[in-house]
Amino acid sequence: MRFRPVRGMRDLLPDEARGLIRLFDLSRRLASLYGYEEVILPTIESYELFAAKSGGEIKERMYTFTDLGGRKVVLRPEATASVARIVASKMLGYPKPLRLFYIVNLFRYDEPQKGRYREFWQAGYELIGSGRALADAELIEMLSRFMEMAGLRDHRFKVGHVGVHRALMGIFKVPEHEQDDVLGFIDRDQWDEAMKILSSYPAELRDVLTGLASVKGGMDKVFEEAWEQLSRYEPALRELERLREILRYAVMLGVPRERLFIDMGFARGLAYYTGVIFECYSHLRVALAGGGRYDKLISLFGGPDMPATGFAIGLDRVHLAQVEAGVSYEDRTFKALVVLAGEDERVVRLAGEALRALRGKMGARAVLDVSARSIKRAFSYASAQGYDYVVVVGRREAEKGVVSVKNMKTGVQVEVPVEELPERLPD
Ligand code: HAM
Repeated sequence: MRFRPVRGMRDLLPDEARGLIRLFDLSRRLASLYGYEEVILPTIESYELFAAKSGGEIKERMYTFTDLGGRKVVLRPEATASVARIVASKMLGYPKPLRLFYIVNLFRYDEPQKGRYREFWQAGYELIGSGRALADAELIEMLSRFMEMAGLRDHRFKVGHVGVHRALMGIFKVPEHEQDDVLGFIDRDQWDEAMKILSSYPAELRDVLTGLASVKGGMDKVFEEAWEQLSRYEPALRELERLREILRYAVMLGVPRERLFIDMGFARGLAYYTGVIFECYSHLRVALAGGGRYDKLISLFGGPDMPATGFAIGLDRVHLAQVEAGVSYEDRTFKALVVLAGEDERVVRLAGEALRALRGKMGARAVLDVSARSIKRAFSYASAQGYDYVVVVGRREAEKGVVSVKNMKTGVQVEVPVEELPERLPD
């Protein structure tokens, strides 16, 4: 019998896994640079955690099943809800603001296509306990820094603010669950459906929402235009002012303003957002990352009123963008294959010394050839596998306390005293 992965699932062999693992490292480095602490979250959560606020589309595409104890559970489709659950139930005593970070695999039953998988990876950053514009600005700057570090210098942000839409709908007494549905349809660009929900409210609301949706562009232009359209709606104006403040801070913190593209008709699929929302793009058509403010989720999960904001990076997509843009990391680690010629005690001991010396030097990767092939075959294996050096340890060498090292690219071979490895590797 032959097995393949289930549709939409991927086996990532070393070459494919490597790019993603580098991004795990990069996102951890970012977390530590900005003071975010890593948490490890469960893959399986209760269905109810996502039922209320993950938004129609994600909810419909969850891997939902009943476990052997009869509980309705899901494979997590995102991780912000888990973080909010933990904060609401276990981290109330922690000093605020809290900065939390995670790397997770997520599951969504999307139609598999380029950059869209049923199991994919995110690095997420959540800043909890601050309602200030500065907090949102920190996140946008941080995401921009990540993209820089990942070599995607052409990235840009699409920014919106659902607080403006919610304030407008609030003026017309649209209940929150209907607001969520309207925003969900706007996210999918199904304006007819969104307007259908609002058909029982004054036409003025539909007009102002559709008018607002056409306001997009750079920072200088957008605010004037949006201000005019919203001038009669004080609560919405306050939210708009908040968006301006966030973006001004983001620029002050170092985000080039030409990277910020504002779209007042922008909504996101998740229903918990209450304020600023943003996505990051490069040349790929799909979003590389997304996030926003969610001030009511922690109280929804039984915690106190606690403002929160965050974002998550789609690491598979960032990797794809890197590959397409030809981004290569400078990789200074080299790979050496240590081959035994004979297996008596002196040879094995000397090989052990060589391996320790090579690995001891930061970054050097040394692999012991544990197969019983001939030296000649070991050389052709090493060359096929892209080894930089082959280190041969044999009886003759053991007597002199040296090893023979061959540079696989240049063909240069020298004898080196083992204690001088890896400083004296041949060029
Ligand atoms: P999201 O926009 O659903 O937000 O996902 C964030 C990123 O995950 C997307 O921009 C995309 O790069 C990646 N992604 C989403 N679906 C797929 C897929 N099927 N295949 C590959 N990559 C995908 C969230 O999940 C929020 N929890 C972000 C957040 C954190 N908001 C506040 N805090």
